[in-house]
Amino acid sequence: MTTVNPSGSLTVTDNRTGKTYDIPVENGAFKTMDFRQIKLSDDDFGLLGYDPGFLNTASCKSAITYIDGDRGILRYRGYPIEQLAQHSTFLETAYLLIKGELPDKERLAVWSYNIHHHTMTHANIVKFMDGFRYDAHPMGIMVGTVGALSTFYPDAKNIMNEDSRKLQVRRLIGKIPTLAAMSFRHSMGFPYVLPDNDLSYPGNFLSMMFKMTEHNYRPNPVLERALDVLFILHADHEQNCSTNAVRAVGSSGVDPYTAVAAGCAALYGPKHGGANEAVIRMLMEIGSIDKVPEFIKSVKAGSGRLMGFGHRVYKNYDPRAKIIKKIAFEVFEETGRSPLLDIALELERIALEDDYFIARKLYPNVDFYSGLIYKAMGFPLDMFPVLFAIGRIPGWLSQWTEHVQDSDQKIARPRQLYLGEEVRDWMPIESRPRNRMDEKKLDICRL
Ligand code: CMC
Repeated sequence: MTTVNPSGSLTVTDNRTGKTYDIPVENGAFKTMDFRQIKLSDDDFGLLGYDPGFLNTASCKSAITYIDGDRGILRYRGYPIEQLAQHSTFLETAYLLIKGELPDKERLAVWSYNIHHHTMTHANIVKFMDGFRYDAHPMGIMVGTVGALSTFYPDAKNIMNEDSRKLQVRRLIGKIPTLAAMSFRHSMGFPYVLPDNDLSYPGNFLSMMFKMTEHNYRPNPVLERALDVLFILHADHEQNCSTNAVRAVGSSGVDPYTAVAAGCAALYGPKHGGANEAVIRMLMEIGSIDKVPEFIKSVKAGSGRLMGFGHRVYKNYDPRAKIIKKIAFEVFEETGRSPLLDIALELERIALEDDYFIARKLYPNVDFYSGLIYKAMGFPLDMFPVLFAIGRIPGWLSQWTEHVQDSDQKIARPRQLYLGEEVRDWMPIESRPRNRMDEKKLDICRL
């Protein structure tokens, strides 16, 4: 096999002017700034790249997560996701993402101790939490409370100080499950449960969620491990929508709590972290296996999307979905099988054989089966994106840490192609012509 050097240069000819330019290529990419020199005249701004949704634009160099979407490969710091899901714990994986290497025994013990000793929140957080309406969506509560943490830790503004960064990382990983469980208990009207540091990371979270009157809550070990693996699978996914939000907001130099709150906000949407919730709602709406073909037909006709299917990067089976599907069966052994699983299996079977989905390379993604597991464990639908957020915290933090240390980075500030009006003079209201707005726009204005 011949190996082609990914670095070199491009020779670009501008057919508008006949001029030729040499554009360097490094690591399989060129800098769009190198195209700025391509101009029609001296006062021309120069060529811009146009890429809505960043379909073909790398916003950073990163050494954290590798994805090959065509081959269905996902690795954290070089380790295949399948091996981490089989052998690691979430806390160990978080260490790997943030520090770059798997820990030895001693380092893991110190790391776990440090995280567990940041699980408590300031008592004023309770008052803050109580201010939300009884039916507030827990993800909305997360966006607010994670952002509010910045007001409790003003030292976090010191983002160029390594010790401060490390402290905020430990605080955030430690406190996120506490905030998440509080948001759930608030919506149920249940008293909040204090962290139990004798339990594992997922075990403590289950305790803060579901402990009632018992003195010692002991989680079901199968569900505890399943949750840990789900957190591992969600821990990072390179430059996805929420990570991009964390990096973009973090690029302003703001503290990590505020940057991570932006990540939570991005994750809230149904095309991202809200998809697992949307999958269950979709399965419940379908109702029974015999309605599956009709539903697939309606998706193909454009009436909606098959939630939990498709991915910007994976054009193959999402490797996380394969692992999650296996866990679903293990969890159902404990909790009893959900009839929604059978609808999901039938949807998957039909979709994978259907030309519409084959042609567009649409396969189940991480969210297709995760919601079924969460539901079987007793989590309400509103909590699903919150569970995604707990898992994604080390990813956001490792990406944020990498970003603030990257000397190539600048404040995120994209360009635009301005296609609006040329300069025009302001007019008094009585002399503005009506014909500048069509009737449809006027109707909107009247609302
Ligand atoms: N069901 C039906 N058609 C779909 C779906 C779907 N789930 N996803 C994409 N398509 C079609 C889409 O209509 C388009 O068809 P056409 O070329 O005829 O217009 C084509 O496939 C390409 O879609 P796209 O919207 O250009 O693809 P994208 O890369 O911008 O979107 C996506 C990726 C994940 C937003 C999208 O696949 C989707 O909305 N999926 C459902 C929501 C979902 O499950 N999201 C969770 C993603 S995984 C968790 C995460 O990492 O956030």
